[in-house]
Amino acid sequence: MLLYIHIPFCDSKCHYCSFNSYINKTSLIKKYIQAICKQFIFEIKRFDIKEKAIETVFIGGGTPSVIPAVEYKTFFDLINKYLKNDIEITIEANPNSANLNWIKDIKELGVNRISFGVQSFDEKKLKYLGRNHSGKDAINAINNAKTAGFENISLDLIHGTKIDNKKLLKNDLQIAFSTPINHISTYHLSIEKGTLFYKTKEQTKEDIDEQIWFYDKIKERGFTQYEISNFGKYHSIHNLGYWSYKDYIGLGAGAVGFLKNKRFYPHKTIEKYIQEPLFWKEEKLSDDNIKTEKIFLGLRSDIGINEDILNTKEIEKIKILIDEDKIKLENGIIFNNNYLLSDEIALFILS
Ligand SMILES: C[S@@+](CC[C@H](N)C(=O)[O-])C[C@H]1O[C@@H](n2cnc3c(N)ncnc32)[C@H](O)[C@@H]1O
Ligand code: SF4
Repeated sequence: MLLYIHIPFCDSKCHYCSFNSYINKTSLIKKYIQAICKQFIFEIKRFDIKEKAIETVFIGGGTPSVIPAVEYKTFFDLINKYLKNDIEITIEANPNSANLNWIKDIKELGVNRISFGVQSFDEKKLKYLGRNHSGKDAINAINNAKTAGFENISLDLIHGTKIDNKKLLKNDLQIAFSTPINHISTYHLSIEKGTLFYKTKEQTKEDIDEQIWFYDKIKERGFTQYEISNFGKYHSIHNLGYWSYKDYIGLGAGAVGFLKNKRFYPHKTIEKYIQEPLFWKEEKLSDDNIKTEKIFLGLRSDIGINEDILNTKEIEKIKILIDEDKIKLENGIIFNNNYLLSDEIALFILS
């Protein structure tokens, strides 16, 4: 059982981001934490959570570092007895709001992995993306996390913007690898509805050679790729749990929960969620839906696909893909040789 908590507050809205997050709503923080606690108490019953049953915790956003660390205390006091010993507890943070005191305090509460939204260290690119911090702020935040005693530090980068080139990306990696990180998530820019980039009809840069080159540069540093966008010397247990289709509790506005064959969708806006934290819409997944998702997730990550879920026709396709050296079969699990082809391969298997 995994636990995800969504923090939908941000200091500013980045030009590319369509995540469920809001600015100028920090006056609602206290009520929001109360609502999350209320929902957790409800989920204990729905998910039948026993003491020490939760395997990982991920506090994502939005920007969790917008909330003062002390505000999380009531929540941690509530969930602590349901957590397994020594589990991975991750929090996302923005270099702008995560100062040394916040980082120290959040560590005191038990958080042991921190993931900074950096996107780039290049001032021009940061401005273009609408970020509210400098490259130097990001370096300081990462160093502060190390000073506070964090061993597991990750950063998010964005590539595939029109201003990217090998020189800029190489410089970003050089700086990234000079900091004490052991994980990188790097996302190809996508233009999402409702964002400033969507309105201004911004274009992405579709340069597959540059993307492969970029990934290779990350791998050269011993950061192994365990999913299309994720590389590390340490592989996040929460991420792996999610891709291997484990049940997860989703707390907060717009945070999806998943149990057996059902997904739960709470209210998306902060105000409605605070009013009715126990409201949800339900989606029931058919066996076919589940199988399709397992195939897509398995090919995007080093989880792979258990061949037992495939039918005879699909197994024939697998044989073709093995002959073409696109995938490999090891102890009944099918592994993808090139994550960048994962969707294409999934569609071929399912066609
Ligand atoms: C919730 S945010 C990370 C934490 C924090 N909000 C921050 O930005 O500093 C998760 C990550 O998603 C990525 N992301 C969001 N929208 C994206 C988009 N349209 N294209 C590519 N990456 C995106 C960014 O790398 C971002 O850091
Ligand atoms: S990228 Fe992060 S900081 Fe920027 S708007 Fe999205 S959630 Fe907020």
